[in-house]
Amino acid sequence: MKTIGLVGARGHTGRELIRLLAERDDLKLAFAVSRAMDGQPVTDLAPEGPAGLLFEALSPDEVAQRQCDGVILAMPNGQAAPYVDAIEAVKPDTVIVDLSADYRFDDSWVYGLPELYGRAAITGATRISNPGCYATAGQLAVAPMREALSGPAHLFGVSGYSGAGTTPNRRNDEEALRDNLMPYALMGHIHEREMSRHLGREVRFSPHVAAFFRGIVLTVQMEFARSITAEAFRSAYETAYGDEPLIRVQDEAPEVIEGANNPGAVVGGFALSEDGRRGVMVCALDNLLKGAAVQAMQNLCLGLRLSEFEPRSA
Ligand SMILES: NC(=O)c1ccc[n+]([C@@H]2O[C@H](COP(=O)([O-])OP(=O)(O)OC[C@H]3O[C@@H](n4cnc5c(N)ncnc54)[C@H](OP(=O)(O)O)[C@@H]3O)[C@@H](O)[C@H]2O)c1
Repeated sequence: MKTIGLVGARGHTGRELIRLLAERDDLKLAFAVSRAMDGQPVTDLAPEGPAGLLFEALSPDEVAQRQCDGVILAMPNGQAAPYVDAIEAVKPDTVIVDLSADYRFDDSWVYGLPELYGRAAITGATRISNPGCYATAGQLAVAPMREALSGPAHLFGVSGYSGAGTTPNRRNDEEALRDNLMPYALMGHIHEREMSRHLGREVRFSPHVAAFFRGIVLTVQMEFARSITAEAFRSAYETAYGDEPLIRVQDEAPEVIEGANNPGAVVGGFALSEDGRRGVMVCALDNLLKGAAVQAMQNLCLGLRLSEFEPRSA
Protein backbone atom coordinates (compact mmCIF):
# COMPACT_ATOMS: atom_id res chain seq x y z
CA MET A 1 0.00 0.00 0.00
CA LYS A 2 1.37 3.40 -1.01
CA THR A 3 0.34 6.46 0.96
CA ILE A 4 -0.49 9.76 -0.72
CA GLY A 5 -0.80 13.36 0.45
CA LEU A 6 -3.06 15.79 -1.42
CA VAL A 7 -2.52 19.57 -1.22
CA GLY A 8 -5.35 21.68 -2.65
CA ALA A 9 -7.75 18.90 -1.70
CA ARG A 10 -10.97 20.92 -1.54
CA GLY A 11 -10.64 22.39 -5.05
CA HIS A 12 -12.39 21.10 -8.15
CA THR A 13 -9.51 18.83 -9.16
CA GLY A 14 -8.72 17.87 -5.55
CA ARG A 15 -12.27 16.67 -5.06
CA GLU A 16 -11.99 14.42 -8.15
CA LEU A 17 -8.64 13.11 -6.92
CA ILE A 18 -10.11 12.06 -3.56
CA ARG A 19 -12.65 9.94 -5.46
CA LEU A 20 -10.11 8.49 -7.88
CA LEU A 21 -7.62 7.62 -5.11
CA ALA A 22 -10.42 5.71 -3.37
CA GLU A 23 -10.79 3.52 -6.50
CA ARG A 24 -7.34 2.00 -5.95
CA ASP A 25 -6.73 -0.77 -3.43
CA ASP A 26 -2.99 -0.05 -3.48
CA LEU A 27 -3.24 3.68 -2.70
CA LYS A 28 -4.34 5.36 0.50
CA LEU A 29 -5.05 9.06 1.00
CA ALA A 30 -2.96 9.76 4.11
CA PHE A 31 -3.59 13.50 4.44
CA ALA A 32 -5.67 16.13 2.67
CA VAL A 33 -4.63 19.79 2.93
CA SER A 34 -7.14 22.62 2.91
CA ARG A 35 -7.03 25.87 4.85
CA ALA A 36 -10.70 26.68 4.21
CA MET A 37 -11.96 23.25 5.38
CA ASP A 38 -9.43 22.71 8.20
CA GLY A 39 -10.85 20.24 10.76
CA GLN A 40 -13.80 19.12 8.64
CA PRO A 41 -14.20 15.48 7.55
CA VAL A 42 -13.01 14.80 4.00
CA THR A 43 -16.24 12.87 3.49
CA ASP A 44 -18.20 16.14 3.90
CA LEU A 45 -16.82 17.13 0.48
CA ALA A 46 -16.23 13.72 -1.07
CA PRO A 47 -18.23 10.82 0.41
CA GLU A 48 -15.86 8.37 -1.34
CA GLY A 49 -12.94 9.61 0.79
CA PRO A 50 -11.47 7.75 3.77
CA ALA A 51 -13.80 7.63 6.79
CA GLY A 52 -12.42 9.61 9.71
CA LEU A 53 -9.85 11.61 7.72
CA LEU A 54 -10.02 15.35 8.41
CA PHE A 55 -8.81 18.20 6.20
CA GLU A 56 -5.75 19.86 7.68
CA ALA A 57 -4.14 23.26 7.11
CA LEU A 58 -0.54 22.06 6.81
CA SER A 59 2.41 24.30 5.98
CA PRO A 60 4.95 23.18 3.37
CA ASP A 61 7.32 22.04 6.16
CA GLU A 62 4.54 20.08 7.87
CA VAL A 63 3.65 18.39 4.57
CA ALA A 64 7.30 17.44 4.08
CA GLN A 65 7.45 15.86 7.57
CA ARG A 66 4.44 13.61 6.91
CA GLN A 67 5.10 9.97 6.04
CA CYS A 68 3.94 9.29 2.47
CA ASP A 69 5.14 7.87 -0.84
CA GLY A 70 3.60 10.50 -3.09
CA VAL A 71 2.26 14.04 -2.91
CA ILE A 72 -0.19 15.55 -5.37
CA LEU A 73 -0.18 19.35 -5.59
CA ALA A 74 -3.50 20.73 -6.88
CA MET A 75 -3.18 24.43 -6.15
CA PRO A 76 -3.46 27.51 -8.39
CA ASN A 77 -0.42 28.45 -10.47
CA GLY A 78 2.52 29.92 -8.58
CA GLN A 79 1.98 28.09 -5.26
CA ALA A 80 3.88 24.82 -5.69
CA ALA A 81 7.51 25.83 -5.11
CA PRO A 82 7.46 26.08 -1.27
CA TYR A 83 6.00 22.53 -1.09
CA VAL A 84 8.43 21.14 -3.65
CA ASP A 85 11.40 22.77 -1.90
CA ALA A 86 10.34 21.53 1.54
CA ILE A 87 9.82 17.94 0.31
CA GLU A 88 13.10 18.08 -1.63
CA ALA A 89 14.94 19.03 1.56
CA VAL A 90 13.50 16.25 3.72
CA LYS A 91 12.40 13.34 1.48
CA PRO A 92 13.66 13.87 -2.07
CA ASP A 93 12.50 10.40 -3.20
CA THR A 94 8.83 11.30 -2.73
CA VAL A 95 6.90 11.21 -6.03
CA ILE A 96 5.43 14.68 -6.64
CA VAL A 97 2.73 15.25 -9.26
CA ASP A 98 1.95 18.94 -9.79
CA LEU A 99 -1.27 19.94 -11.55
CA SER A 100 -0.34 23.58 -12.01
CA ALA A 101 1.64 25.09 -14.87
CA ASP A 102 4.62 25.79 -12.58
CA TYR A 103 6.89 22.97 -13.84
CA ARG A 104 5.53 22.36 -17.36
CA PHE A 105 8.41 24.36 -18.80
CA ASP A 106 11.08 22.87 -16.51
CA ASP A 107 13.29 20.25 -18.17
CA SER A 108 14.20 18.70 -14.82
CA TRP A 109 10.56 17.60 -14.47
CA VAL A 110 8.85 14.92 -16.60
CA TYR A 111 5.84 16.19 -18.57
CA GLY A 112 3.23 13.50 -18.01
CA LEU A 113 1.03 12.92 -21.04
CA PRO A 114 1.45 9.13 -21.28
CA GLU A 115 -0.40 8.55 -24.57
CA LEU A 116 1.81 11.01 -26.47
CA TYR A 117 5.21 11.11 -24.86
CA GLY A 118 5.38 7.54 -23.60
CA ARG A 119 5.21 5.84 -20.27
CA ALA A 120 8.93 5.07 -20.02
CA ALA A 121 10.01 8.56 -18.93
CA ILE A 122 7.23 8.79 -16.34
CA THR A 123 7.82 5.34 -14.84
CA GLY A 124 9.79 5.79 -11.62
CA ALA A 125 9.98 9.59 -12.05
CA THR A 126 9.74 11.62 -8.86
CA ARG A 127 8.93 15.06 -10.35
CA ILE A 128 5.99 14.92 -12.75
CA SER A 129 4.27 17.94 -14.21
CA ASN A 130 0.64 17.31 -15.20
CA PRO A 131 -0.44 18.90 -18.50
CA GLY A 132 -3.13 21.57 -18.69
CA CYS A 133 -6.69 20.67 -19.68
CA TYR A 134 -6.83 22.53 -23.01
CA ALA A 135 -3.22 21.54 -23.57
CA THR A 136 -4.13 17.86 -23.25
CA ALA A 137 -7.04 18.19 -25.70
CA GLY A 138 -5.02 20.25 -28.16
CA GLN A 139 -2.02 17.95 -28.17
CA LEU A 140 -4.20 14.85 -28.58
CA ALA A 141 -5.89 16.51 -31.57
CA VAL A 142 -2.72 17.76 -33.28
CA ALA A 143 0.01 15.23 -32.43
CA PRO A 144 -0.81 12.50 -34.99
CA MET A 145 -0.49 15.10 -37.81
CA ARG A 146 2.34 17.21 -36.42
CA GLU A 147 4.92 16.04 -38.96
CA ALA A 148 2.55 16.86 -41.85
CA LEU A 149 1.85 20.48 -40.81
CA SER A 150 2.96 23.30 -43.08
CA GLY A 151 2.48 25.99 -40.43
CA PRO A 152 0.89 26.66 -37.03
CA ALA A 153 -2.29 24.75 -36.15
CA HIS A 154 -5.16 27.03 -35.08
CA LEU A 155 -7.13 25.89 -32.05
CA PHE A 156 -10.51 27.16 -30.89
CA GLY A 157 -11.49 25.88 -27.45
CA VAL A 158 -14.54 26.17 -25.22
CA SER A 159 -14.48 24.93 -21.65
CA GLY A 160 -16.91 24.68 -18.78
CA TYR A 161 -16.45 27.14 -15.95
CA SER A 162 -14.96 24.63 -13.52
CA GLY A 163 -11.78 25.26 -15.54
CA ALA A 164 -11.53 28.61 -13.76
CA GLY A 165 -11.20 27.03 -10.29
CA THR A 166 -13.16 27.86 -7.13
CA THR A 167 -11.81 31.36 -6.38
CA PRO A 168 -14.63 33.67 -7.51
CA ASN A 169 -13.89 35.48 -10.76
CA ARG A 170 -15.81 36.49 -13.88
CA ARG A 171 -14.97 33.21 -15.66
CA ASN A 172 -16.70 31.09 -13.01
CA ASP A 173 -19.53 33.54 -12.28
CA GLU A 174 -22.72 31.75 -13.32
CA GLU A 175 -24.59 35.06 -13.65
CA ALA A 176 -22.02 36.58 -16.00
CA LEU A 177 -21.95 33.36 -18.02
CA ARG A 178 -25.69 32.95 -18.40
CA ASP A 179 -26.59 32.90 -22.15
CA ASN A 180 -23.02 33.94 -22.78
CA LEU A 181 -19.68 32.77 -24.20
CA MET A 182 -16.53 34.52 -22.96
CA PRO A 183 -13.34 34.73 -24.98
CA TYR A 184 -10.24 35.39 -22.85
CA ALA A 185 -6.41 35.35 -22.98
CA LEU A 186 -6.50 36.01 -26.72
CA MET A 187 -2.72 36.17 -26.99
CA GLY A 188 -0.12 34.05 -25.23
CA HIS A 189 -2.36 31.79 -23.12
CA ILE A 190 -0.09 29.55 -21.07
CA HIS A 191 -1.54 26.43 -22.74
CA GLU A 192 -0.60 27.87 -26.15
CA ARG A 193 3.03 28.02 -25.05
CA GLU A 194 2.76 24.62 -23.38
CA MET A 195 1.36 22.93 -26.50
CA SER A 196 3.89 24.58 -28.80
CA ARG A 197 6.75 23.56 -26.53
CA HIS A 198 5.82 19.92 -26.14
CA LEU A 199 4.51 19.31 -29.67
CA GLY A 200 7.60 20.97 -31.13
CA ARG A 201 5.21 22.84 -33.49
CA GLU A 202 3.72 26.31 -33.11
CA VAL A 203 0.03 26.43 -32.30
CA ARG A 204 -2.35 29.39 -32.07
CA PHE A 205 -5.00 29.03 -29.42
CA SER A 206 -8.15 30.98 -28.53
CA PRO A 207 -9.85 29.87 -25.28
CA HIS A 208 -13.47 30.55 -24.33
CA VAL A 209 -15.55 29.73 -21.28
CA ALA A 210 -19.23 28.84 -21.37
CA ALA A 211 -22.09 28.41 -18.92
CA PHE A 212 -21.77 24.63 -18.46
CA PHE A 213 -19.79 23.30 -15.48
CA ARG A 214 -17.42 20.72 -16.92
CA GLY A 215 -16.09 19.54 -20.28
CA ILE A 216 -14.05 20.94 -23.15
CA VAL A 217 -14.46 20.95 -26.89
CA LEU A 218 -11.44 21.97 -28.89
CA THR A 219 -11.48 22.35 -32.68
CA VAL A 220 -8.20 22.38 -34.57
CA GLN A 221 -7.56 23.68 -38.07
CA MET A 222 -4.45 22.21 -39.71
CA GLU A 223 -2.77 22.91 -43.06
CA PHE A 224 -0.59 20.21 -44.53
CA ALA A 225 2.60 20.59 -46.55
CA ARG A 226 1.42 17.86 -48.96
CA SER A 227 -1.97 16.56 -49.95
CA ILE A 228 -3.17 13.69 -47.77
CA THR A 229 -5.91 11.14 -48.36
CA ALA A 230 -8.90 10.57 -46.10
CA GLU A 231 -7.50 7.08 -45.37
CA ALA A 232 -4.11 8.45 -44.30
CA PHE A 233 -5.80 11.10 -42.15
CA ARG A 234 -7.89 8.51 -40.36
CA SER A 235 -5.09 5.99 -40.00
CA ALA A 236 -2.75 8.54 -38.37
CA TYR A 237 -5.15 8.75 -35.43
CA GLU A 238 -5.96 5.03 -35.40
CA THR A 239 -2.26 4.24 -35.26
CA ALA A 240 -1.60 6.80 -32.53
CA TYR A 241 -4.51 5.88 -30.27
CA GLY A 242 -5.79 2.47 -31.36
CA ASP A 243 -4.34 0.71 -28.31
CA GLU A 244 -5.00 3.49 -25.83
CA PRO A 245 -7.82 2.60 -23.42
CA LEU A 246 -8.58 6.23 -22.56
CA ILE A 247 -8.63 7.69 -26.10
CA ARG A 248 -11.53 6.99 -28.45
CA VAL A 249 -11.24 7.79 -32.15
CA GLN A 250 -14.51 8.26 -34.03
CA ASP A 251 -15.66 9.59 -37.41
CA GLU A 252 -17.95 12.29 -36.04
CA ALA A 253 -16.77 15.45 -34.30
CA PRO A 254 -17.32 14.87 -30.56
CA GLU A 255 -19.48 17.29 -28.58
CA VAL A 256 -18.99 18.61 -25.04
CA ILE A 257 -21.46 16.07 -23.71
CA GLU A 258 -19.23 13.20 -24.91
CA GLY A 259 -16.23 14.63 -23.05
CA ALA A 260 -17.92 15.71 -19.83
CA ASN A 261 -17.83 13.00 -17.14
CA ASN A 262 -15.77 10.83 -19.50
CA PRO A 263 -12.54 9.67 -17.83
CA GLY A 264 -10.78 9.72 -21.22
CA ALA A 265 -10.85 11.78 -24.41
CA VAL A 266 -12.71 11.50 -27.72
CA VAL A 267 -11.06 12.58 -30.97
CA GLY A 268 -12.92 12.84 -34.27
CA GLY A 269 -14.22 14.97 -37.11
CA PHE A 270 -11.85 14.08 -39.96
CA ALA A 271 -12.99 16.96 -42.16
CA LEU A 272 -10.63 17.18 -45.14
CA SER A 273 -10.59 19.75 -47.94
CA GLU A 274 -10.99 18.54 -51.52
CA ASP A 275 -7.31 19.14 -52.26
CA GLY A 276 -6.28 17.22 -49.12
CA ARG A 277 -4.23 20.16 -47.84
CA ARG A 278 -6.46 21.23 -44.93
CA GLY A 279 -7.94 19.12 -42.14
CA VAL A 280 -10.12 19.82 -39.12
CA MET A 281 -10.25 17.67 -36.00
CA VAL A 282 -12.10 17.98 -32.69
CA CYS A 283 -11.19 16.68 -29.24
CA ALA A 284 -13.64 16.52 -26.34
CA LEU A 285 -12.67 15.65 -22.79
CA ASP A 286 -13.49 16.51 -19.18
CA ASN A 287 -11.21 19.28 -17.96
CA LEU A 288 -11.35 17.83 -14.43
CA LEU A 289 -10.64 14.23 -15.50
CA LYS A 290 -8.36 13.47 -18.49
CA GLY A 291 -7.64 17.22 -18.40
CA ALA A 292 -6.48 17.02 -14.76
CA ALA A 293 -7.26 14.35 -12.13
CA VAL A 294 -7.34 11.17 -14.27
CA GLN A 295 -4.09 12.19 -15.92
CA ALA A 296 -2.57 12.94 -12.49
CA MET A 297 -3.58 9.43 -11.37
CA GLN A 298 -1.99 7.90 -14.48
CA ASN A 299 1.18 9.82 -13.71
CA LEU A 300 1.15 9.04 -9.99
CA CYS A 301 0.78 5.30 -10.63
CA LEU A 302 3.58 5.34 -13.20
CA GLY A 303 5.82 7.36 -10.88
CA LEU A 304 5.20 4.84 -8.08
CA ARG A 305 5.70 1.93 -10.53
CA LEU A 306 2.18 0.65 -9.88
CA SER A 307 -0.10 -0.94 -12.45
CA GLU A 308 -1.65 1.33 -15.10
CA PHE A 309 -4.45 3.51 -13.77
CA GLU A 310 -7.81 2.37 -15.14
CA PRO A 311 -10.59 4.70 -14.02
CA ARG A 312 -13.76 2.79 -13.20
CA SER A 313 -16.08 5.55 -14.30
CA ALA A 314 -16.45 9.31 -14.18
N1 LIG B 1 -10.03 23.17 -12.95
C1 LIG B 1 -9.56 22.59 -14.03
O1 LIG B 1 -10.29 22.27 -14.98
C2 LIG B 1 -8.10 22.27 -14.14
C3 LIG B 1 -7.67 21.46 -15.19
C4 LIG B 1 -6.29 21.18 -15.33
C5 LIG B 1 -5.40 21.71 -14.41
N2 LIG B 1 -5.85 22.52 -13.42
C6 LIG B 1 -4.88 23.08 -12.49
O2 LIG B 1 -5.02 22.40 -11.25
C7 LIG B 1 -4.76 23.29 -10.18
C8 LIG B 1 -5.95 23.28 -9.24
O3 LIG B 1 -7.09 23.73 -9.97
P1 LIG B 1 -8.54 23.70 -9.33
O4 LIG B 1 -9.47 24.11 -10.42
O5 LIG B 1 -8.77 22.43 -8.60
O6 LIG B 1 -8.41 24.92 -8.30
P2 LIG B 1 -9.42 25.38 -7.19
O7 LIG B 1 -10.72 24.67 -7.36
O8 LIG B 1 -9.45 26.86 -7.21
O9 LIG B 1 -8.74 24.85 -5.85
C9 LIG B 1 -7.53 25.33 -5.41
C10 LIG B 1 -7.10 24.56 -4.18
O10 LIG B 1 -5.81 25.05 -3.78
C11 LIG B 1 -5.83 25.42 -2.40
N3 LIG B 1 -4.93 26.57 -2.29
C12 LIG B 1 -5.02 27.75 -2.94
N4 LIG B 1 -3.95 28.53 -2.67
C13 LIG B 1 -3.18 27.81 -1.82
C14 LIG B 1 -1.94 28.06 -1.16
N5 LIG B 1 -1.29 29.22 -1.33
N6 LIG B 1 -1.45 27.12 -0.34
C15 LIG B 1 -2.11 25.95 -0.15
N7 LIG B 1 -3.28 25.64 -0.75
C16 LIG B 1 -3.80 26.56 -1.58
C17 LIG B 1 -7.28 25.68 -2.06
O11 LIG B 1 -7.59 25.23 -0.75
P3 LIG B 1 -7.64 26.12 0.56
O12 LIG B 1 -7.80 27.55 0.11
O13 LIG B 1 -8.79 25.59 1.33
O14 LIG B 1 -6.33 25.84 1.22
C18 LIG B 1 -8.01 24.72 -3.00
O15 LIG B 1 -8.14 23.44 -2.41
C19 LIG B 1 -4.49 24.66 -10.82
O16 LIG B 1 -3.11 24.88 -10.94
C20 LIG B 1 -5.12 24.53 -12.19
O17 LIG B 1 -4.50 25.37 -13.15
C21 LIG B 1 -7.17 22.78 -13.24
